[in-house]
Amino acid sequence: MASHIYQEILAIFGLAVLFCSTVTADHFQPVCRSQVGFLRHPQNCSLYFMCIRGVPSPPLSCPPGFVFSIRYSVCLPVDTLFNDCYVSRTTKSSPPTTTTTTTTTSTPTLSVEERCQMDRTAVFPHPGQCQLFYNCSNDAQPDWPSFFDRYLDECEYPLLFNAVTSRCEDFHDVTCGDRVEHVNRCSYLRSKCVTSHCVPCWVRFATCSDLPDGMNVFVGREWTPYYAICKDNRSLGFDVCPFNDTLKIPEFFSPDQGECVSLYEVPREHSGYQLDCSTRDDGLYLDDVTSRPDLYYRCHGGHLTEINVCPSGERFDKATDLCVSLGI
Ligand SMILES: *[C@@H]1O[C@H](CO)[C@@H](O)[C@H](O)[C@H]1NC(C)=O
Ligand SMILES: *[C@@H]1O[C@H](CO)[C@@H](O)[C@H](O)[C@H]1NC(C)=O
Ligand SMILES: *[C@@H]1O[C@H](CO)[C@@H](O)[C@H](O)[C@H]1NC(C)=O
Ligand SMILES: *[C@@H]1O[C@H](CO)[C@@H](O)[C@H](O)[C@H]1NC(C)=O
Repeated sequence: MASHIYQEILAIFGLAVLFCSTVTADHFQPVCRSQVGFLRHPQNCSLYFMCIRGVPSPPLSCPPGFVFSIRYSVCLPVDTLFNDCYVSRTTKSSPPTTTTTTTTTSTPTLSVEERCQMDRTAVFPHPGQCQLFYNCSNDAQPDWPSFFDRYLDECEYPLLFNAVTSRCEDFHDVTCGDRVEHVNRCSYLRSKCVTSHCVPCWVRFATCSDLPDGMNVFVGREWTPYYAICKDNRSLGFDVCPFNDTLKIPEFFSPDQGECVSLYEVPREHSGYQLDCSTRDDGLYLDDVTSRPDLYYRCHGGHLTEINVCPSGERFDKATDLCVSLGI
């Protein structure tokens, strides 16, 4: 009789329980407080029960990597922001002795709301993302998309939330464990666009994942004066190539050379005035691209090796390979 009802309800709630299956019971005795609804197992967030006519179903299990959300009454991926399950995680402590002890504390599973009700000043990590945390004493709506997650807060990029000290700290000092560690600024929620007119994050900030430390190409702004400054796969920001005072011309960041180069070294297809040596014999040449009489360059082995400007009031004389007075 009872199992017949469950089948009926399973069909109705088909979507929510699509991937879920019944599992063997344990010591926990679920008690329904309403005729129809869901209960989550207090120790195991991936187990839940359906209440039908006030009677709990056998335990149902979310698929691997999913947990049951009390708020949304569905199984959700464990790393989603909508995950309202918090189970305290393994904390490592290294006493000054030679051994390292690992203690696993298994506290009853509480929702964020429940934890904050118990302790109005609690600060604890978000289970999925290492830069996110909950601050029960901060109920203000942030100005970035928080996906309606009350008490949710986020460390400033590139800081991460240290679950041991309950503070945002340098990523070197934070062990994320199972929490996802984002290195891209654009993966932080506060970088995401709130309005439709907002400039996409990757255009505003450079990404540095898998790039070496130092100056790097600004992906999305290749062959412009902009370049990314990277450290430990993280973007410290970007900078702009200086104006070349010697050649009196702007510089662009060359993705090929990994540095700022004058427009005389930037290919034409990237809006540059590249002085082309590929078909030239070794020697000095007068600027034949922007036709400056004082600018000359050296080709060696088919490559541009030197760009020079004659002193003020002089021009380059191809016949003598020398700078001569303008009057001559
Ligand atoms: C929770 O229950 C599922 C399904 O029975 C099981 O695979 C998983 O190991 C349990 N997790 C914990 C932490 O007990
Ligand atoms: C939590 O919020 C309170 C009140 O806004 C604030 O004073 C405190 O610094 C916050 N804690 C953290 C770790 O951000
Ligand atoms: C940066 O990323 C590379 C490749 O993913 C990795 O091997 C390296 O350890 C990372 N460096 C840091 C400091 O996280
Ligand atoms: C200007 O460009 C030339 C040629 O690339 C280079 O040798 C020189 O160092 C640059 N000068 C400045 C001030 O950047």
